[in-house]
Amino acid sequence: MKIAAIVGSTRQNSYNLKLAKHIQKRYEDRFTLQILEIGHLPFYNQDIEHDPSSEVTDFIQNVADADAVLWVTPEYNGTISGALKNAIDWLSRIDQVMIGKPSWMVGASMGALGTVKAQAHLRDILFAPGLSSPVLPGNEVLVGAVHEKMDEQGNLIDEGTVAFIDGAVDNVLPWLEKQSAVHS
Ligand SMILES: Cc1cc2nc3c(=O)[nH]c(=O)nc-3n(C[C@H](O)[C@H](O)[C@H](O)COP(=O)(O)O)c2cc1C
Repeated sequence: MKIAAIVGSTRQNSYNLKLAKHIQKRYEDRFTLQILEIGHLPFYNQDIEHDPSSEVTDFIQNVADADAVLWVTPEYNGTISGALKNAIDWLSRIDQVMIGKPSWMVGASMGALGTVKAQAHLRDILFAPGLSSPVLPGNEVLVGAVHEKMDEQGNLIDEGTVAFIDGAVDNVLPWLEKQSAVHS
């Protein structure tokens, strides 16, 4: 199983990027997680959508080639980041590679509620007609106060959070296999 990870924070020391790397490493014998860059994508503009730059076409192709997408979202002012929304807008147009492609999501924030609003919005966005992505029911992975749960090297050291993500992964894999069978 090949999963594309799209991280909504573009900063170098992003906790969400570190969370994506934790998932990539911890479950490497169960699925391949390819972390995709979104910081270099131009702003979506309908004038250029039929002839976008190679950054855009490569990004879209990588998503098209994946069996599923893992969204790793920060929360900015109660919603997803502008960078993430921009990437999603690109994916929603022309080839519409998200249609039928299953999604699951995790998110980390420094606030107590751990991206709960951003994830609710993201679920809603993924149901837009140009995306129409089946989203893993339940299994919300909301990592609040993330700065207290990672060490200086960016390792996730909170045992409860690590165990909770183990459980979510146990649920996500059979669900993704069923979704792939339905949509293939
Ligand atoms: C513009 C901006 C808005 C933010 N809004 C929220 C918010 O609504 N809820 C929250 O829990 N944290 C919020 N934060 C704090 C983030 O949780 C924190 O910066 C986090 O580290 C961002 O994720 P990252 O480390 O992956 O970049 C905000 C941060 C920024 C820069």
